[in-house]
Amino acid sequence: MKIGIASDHAGYKLKEYLKKILEKEGHQIVDLGTYNLESVDYPDYAAKLAELVSKGLVKRGILICGTGIGMSIVANKFPGIRAAVCWSEETAALSRRHNDANILCLGGRILKNEEAAKILRVWLNTEFEEGRHLRRIEKIKKIEEKMRKS
Ligand code: RB5
Repeated sequence: MKIGIASDHAGYKLKEYLKKILEKEGHQIVDLGTYNLESVDYPDYAAKLAELVSKGLVKRGILICGTGIGMSIVANKFPGIRAAVCWSEETAALSRRHNDANILCLGGRILKNEEAAKILRVWLNTEFEEGRHLRRIEKIKKIEEKMRKS
């Protein structure tokens, strides 16, 4: 799968760890930075990644900051983005099954590397259930359209 990944300084170490795992598993990774531990602003990285996913240039995205929260707030401003902060395998699975989340947001200061890897694996391998959940996603799309026109 073609996957985009980005972080700020607080998520940098976890980004590097997860990137290696994904590459080993044969995914094509687009790394949008940051590339070291120097302090940066998470909105810049969330915006770069969310734009790629929003335009369909990568199928899914991973964003990592201290908590995952700032990244999710920014990413969810982009059309078609459903960014979910996940902190367990269960929330990761539900964000895919029910919300068809296309960006996974993780907290580099919250999760241990191994926990994050498990969450990521579940998130990548869980399908959207559709059915009643599709109706709800369609409603989100309608809200986006309405906001765009207003
Ligand atoms: C950076 O210190 C921190 O605020 C950021 O990584 C993130 O957690 C914001 O939501």
